[in-house]
Amino acid sequence: PKVTYIQPDGTEMIVEAEASASVMRTAVSSGVPGIVAECGGSAMCATCHVYVEPGDRARLPEISAVEDEMLDCAAAEREEGSRLSCQLRVDVDIRVRIPETQV
Ligand code: FES
Repeated sequence: PKVTYIQPDGTEMIVEAEASASVMRTAVSSGVPGIVAECGGSAMCATCHVYVEPGDRARLPEISAVEDEMLDCAAAEREEGSRLSCQLRVDVDIRVRIPETQV
């Protein structure tokens, strides 16, 4: 499956994800800018915040209580499609927008 990363300026990067990798891990291992992932994927930092595009939101897993709390602490404003990308496994193609800032 592929992840499309949309930068704040609209530039898109399409990356083929490895089996059961997260949206965060896929970005980091492919050098996609804008996903910092300070805590390494433990839902403890919110520097892997992304905005999932409207068409892809319905099939996402539920937001856990921990993720929900961290999203409230994200540097960029929380929006409808806000998720921690370390908590999203790439099972099917997904499009995410990267916030202006993570820190
Ligand atoms: Fe830290 Fe996702 S990498 S919350």
